[in-house]
Amino acid sequence: MLAAAADTLDALKAALARYDGCALAKTATNLVFGDGSATARVVLIGEAPGAEEDRQGVPFVGVSGQLLDRMLASIGLDRAQVFISNTVFWRPPGNRAPTSQEVATCMPFVIRIIELIRPAMLVALGGPAANALLNRSESVSRLRGRWVTFESAGLDPPIPATALFHPAYLLRSPGQKRFAWRDLVAIKKRLSAG
Ligand code: URA
Repeated sequence: MLAAAADTLDALKAALARYDGCALAKTATNLVFGDGSATARVVLIGEAPGAEEDRQGVPFVGVSGQLLDRMLASIGLDRAQVFISNTVFWRPPGNRAPTSQEVATCMPFVIRIIELIRPAMLVALGGPAANALLNRSESVSRLRGRWVTFESAGLDPPIPATALFHPAYLLRSPGQKRFAWRDLVAIKKRLSAG
């Protein structure tokens, strides 16, 4: 497999740039591979790039990205210390949600990012990312605040995983922010314990 054959993040990005298995690549301006450190202790996965991400080729650089930066800063992290990507690497036209087929074609590459970095934990941003990564169909309100295990063939041992409310959701529903702060504190605690 293309994704599994890549043994660095740069090789994986180059393989994705040549990959024609995901139709979203045809309508997008740029590949949005990921941002951050190859030795990150936390990998965060969102849903899909939006317009600004498509323009810049960098994930989470629009308004929800700015909130994500503040969420990370609240627990002493910045982008250089984590790695951020999405369940799909190209913007779906008109910002529609990616289809399950589109997510499935990108998933081997998302998994390979996690395998290559081997972080201390995986954090899904929002329900769609959580369900795609953790193979479930639960609302993010049920998944957040809990720790499960993320397993893949190339990851030994498996790593702890959790979900946070998506920053775009928090912008629409600021009343939920208190739960996100609670979850961020739990993430920080786990990081300092490890
Ligand atoms: N929302 C996402 O899920 N991902 C991005 O990269 C930007 C906004």
